[in-house]
Amino acid sequence: MTDSTYLDGFLKGHVAFITGGGSGINLGIAKNMAAAGAKIAICGRTFSKLEAAADEIRAFGVDVFPVAADVRDLEAMEKAFLETEAALGSVSIAVAGAAGNFMCEVKDMTYNGFKTVIDIDLMGSFNTAKAAYDQLKKTKGSLLFISAGQSLDAHSHQAHVCAAKAGVDKLMQTLAIEWGPGGIRCNSIIPGPIDGTEGMKRLTTPETLPMLINAVPARRLGTVDDIGRAAVFLSSPFASYISGAVLPVDGGLTLGGSGMFNFAAQQFNAGKKSK
Ligand code: HXC
Repeated sequence: MTDSTYLDGFLKGHVAFITGGGSGINLGIAKNMAAAGAKIAICGRTFSKLEAAADEIRAFGVDVFPVAADVRDLEAMEKAFLETEAALGSVSIAVAGAAGNFMCEVKDMTYNGFKTVIDIDLMGSFNTAKAAYDQLKKTKGSLLFISAGQSLDAHSHQAHVCAAKAGVDKLMQTLAIEWGPGGIRCNSIIPGPIDGTEGMKRLTTPETLPMLINAVPARRLGTVDDIGRAAVFLSSPFASYISGAVLPVDGGLTLGGSGMFNFAAQQFNAGKKSK
């Protein structure tokens, strides 16, 4: 449950634009930023899903603008940013959070399957950054990418996500260098396993979940608020000298590499084949 008391006013005067903001981790980020006083634009493919999420965010007493666009379409993203500026003012926080995932070994993956995740995660992040640039330059804003542990370590059944997220983090760091002199800060968050999210549904089974929790030094799943609070901090003036950082918010999971995940992926695959 997002608690607004300690976040109150942290992001007052800011306008946040969050891709993938209709659900999961990105909706959690939107709610935490709303609790901190920012106006919120949420962007996703399905307008009805965004409208429902917008009602939840409005409960924090801020203006909310749901805008439908596919991150794979640069022109649509540029239009979404312009519409947001007209509705809420210039964006000062952009969050590239939209992502896609499924478990599949490369030998079974089609060209289009690999490309689809590259297009959503990596090209979608590039398109969001490009479309955000003019407004972030005006506001000297913050650009935040939602990466994954797959950026740091190779993960079985995740070649598409590993390639995409490693690209996202290097894109982020390049932008931190190129756009830093203009006052724009760029950072990434690497979420750990977050309870109740689409990613957890896709990557775990009831059999592999306890193994995963056991591999987390904090011995628990994360919550969307764990990620939301980190996103508020990195986008706030308290992080004004942080740029180019890749911050794991994962209870220490990435310290152990991907060994447990690779073992669990074999079980996942074996489970699918036996059905
Ligand atoms: C193999 C698959 C597949 C699967 C899809 N494809 N699912 N291949 N195994 N389970 C292939 C399809 O066969 C097709 O290739 C291609 O991918 C595109 O599929 P579409 O369904 O047409 O694409 P689209 O509707 O755009 O959907 C994109 C998607 C989907 C990524 C496939 O799953 C999606 O929209 N996901 C969004 C939500 C999501 O995944 N959230 C979780 C993010 S978690 P062919 O060749 O047949 O045309 C995350 C964090 C990771 O990213 C880290 C967590 C710890």
